[in-house]
Amino acid sequence: MDKSEVINLRSGVSTVGIIGAGTMGIGIAQVAATAGCEVFLFDTDQEQTEKSIRGLRATFEKLVSKSKITESEADEIMERIRPVVSLKDFSDADLIIEAIVENRDVKKKIFSELEDYVSEKCIISSNTSSISITSLSADLKNPERFIGIHFFNPAPLMPLVEIIPGLLTRGGLAEEIYALMKDWKKVPVIAKDIPGFIVNRIARPFYGEALRIVEENIAKSEQVDDAMKTLGNFRMGPFELMDLIGIDVNFSVTKTVYADYFFDPKYKPSLLQQRMSEAKLHGRKTGRGFYSYAENAEKPTPEKDEKLYEQIFMRIISMLINEAVEAKRLGLANDADIELAIQKGVNYPKGLLAWGEQIGFDKISETLQQLYDEYQEERYRQSPLMRKLIKN
Ligand SMILES: NC(=O)c1ccc[n+]([C@@H]2O[C@H](COP(=O)([O-])OP(=O)(O)OC[C@H]3O[C@@H](n4cnc5c(N)ncnc54)[C@H](O)[C@@H]3O)[C@@H](O)[C@H]2O)c1
Repeated sequence: MDKSEVINLRSGVSTVGIIGAGTMGIGIAQVAATAGCEVFLFDTDQEQTEKSIRGLRATFEKLVSKSKITESEADEIMERIRPVVSLKDFSDADLIIEAIVENRDVKKKIFSELEDYVSEKCIISSNTSSISITSLSADLKNPERFIGIHFFNPAPLMPLVEIIPGLLTRGGLAEEIYALMKDWKKVPVIAKDIPGFIVNRIARPFYGEALRIVEENIAKSEQVDDAMKTLGNFRMGPFELMDLIGIDVNFSVTKTVYADYFFDPKYKPSLLQQRMSEAKLHGRKTGRGFYSYAENAEKPTPEKDEKLYEQIFMRIISMLINEAVEAKRLGLANDADIELAIQKGVNYPKGLLAWGEQIGFDKISETLQQLYDEYQEERYRQSPLMRKLIKN
């Protein structure tokens, strides 16, 4: 019995259609094909599909040269990924994962077209980072088969997958996808259909507060990155991470979360990010974002400043811990999943609730109160649970 038959028996999914061959689409294709599935990959921009497939081949060549995988394994995986030129080619798919531009209307249009081509039993999903799953499914003929399956970047390396049933998703589908993601060697969590789900809601200040610090000339982007890496042990600083995610994608997510929370100032987007997005300085994928990725480009050396670094770190970490505490209060996920999601989805070195305990919720509360007093802004309001967590 070959691998795909095993998958077929366990979860009923052996053929996966992926729409969008950008950063996420090709990464998800790699994950699904590595798990033994046949993958059809579609993008309106055929050159992009070819470029992504070439990139994946180059990645495998590196992995083979480092003996992380054998040449024949790599060949088998590559053979399972087939570029297609039309949505009509998805007629045999058991599962569709959409990973196109983060725009509600564009996504909705493609889903309604798709319904005409896929089989009745085909599950349709979106990898959206922030758009309500319920809203994406609302106009479908069969919204019950629609669900959010949210991978993290880079999809082959980040273990977390958030599974988001919408209000119209049929009961039991989330659990089926949960089992499938385990088969795909992922760490799944089931999340509520709220803006940003678990990770992208809790992690918003990592970007938003960092952007504000730079916008207000408090520090340079390389200093913010350095402060978070040296004092917080983050693998990447906020600006490095935004360059990896894609500034356009990160900006769209922030705008959606902000609008969908009825313009809560906690999630207010940044003008600096808007300008970067307008200029198409999207980060690594376009060769320039907050940093340059041109050949021989040198990263600016941050000017170290102990006091400033402490201020940057405490401001960003306090905002993040406040979000985790609020997520706990609202029951957006259980404590274990809040901690797991942030470590397995965006690689934070510790769970934020544990981090709050370690720094002391009193210190976090004090930092937020100072920001609140200084700015007189609701953005810095504390979760009502924060004070209850402070030990006497
Ligand atoms: N980049 C991340 O870190 C990240 C992480 C998790 C989820 N996501 C989500 O995944 C989705 C894709 O993000 P990405 O970073 O891969 O974007 P990307 O810009 O790298 O790729 C998007 C691809 O979709 C294609 N496309 C656009 N409209 C299309 C259409 N109508 N039909 C077919 N293809 C179309 C584009 O040609 C492009 O190749 C977004 O919803 C994003 O929010 C992104």
